[in-house]
Amino acid sequence: MQSHSATALRYDRFTRILHWVVATVIIYAMCMGYILHALEGTRWFTFFSVLNMSLGTIATPIMLVRFAWRFFRPSVAWPDSISQRKKQMVVFIHEVFYLTIMVVLVSGFLMLQKDYHLFGLLPVTRPIDVPVINHFFFVIHRYSCILLGAILVMHVAAVLKYTFSGKPEILRRML
Ligand code: HEM
Repeated sequence: MQSHSATALRYDRFTRILHWVVATVIIYAMCMGYILHALEGTRWFTFFSVLNMSLGTIATPIMLVRFAWRFFRPSVAWPDSISQRKKQMVVFIHEVFYLTIMVVLVSGFLMLQKDYHLFGLLPVTRPIDVPVINHFFFVIHRYSCILLGAILVMHVAAVLKYTFSGKPEILRRML
């Protein structure tokens, strides 16, 4: 959580690593989740489907650590140019971002209609064995992915807007 006594100008190394690891996994898994539709029926489908599920699975504990770490990490000062109202809005959007990521991850597991092997190695049993409930979570997964994609685009667009309008310090907080 941010505090008024914050003096650091960018996030600590652990926060920055967590941010970029999660961002990479989510952007890859989202693109590949849609590309998988085009791969259906080809010999590539199983490989990329298992890879996507495996990446999503390891992203879940990483996200939990990331969520918990927010309460312990050193605070980072906001640039003076950002108004109090804007700060509150950004913090709120980040909360919705975290929540949406967790809904995508959890619904991904709960929609599984068969067991799979994590990276082709470790067996993972599907948690729910009732097709109608799996279908319900598939719908949740589908819509939460669309919401996540929309938030992601807004997030990147906002950072780019600041960067190219003379406020590169916003992006530097996470570099
Ligand atoms: C990093 C987080 C994740 C993202 C961004 C993501 C994204 C997506 C997207 C965009 C789709 C296509 C949705 C559609 O057709 O409308 C999809 C499908 C699917 N997702 Fe996820 N997902 C994530 C995590 C997971 C997890 C943790 C699992 C389960 C372990 C999972 C299992 C599936 C399955 C089974 C499908 C159907 C296609 C397939 O066979 O791979 N996802 N995902």
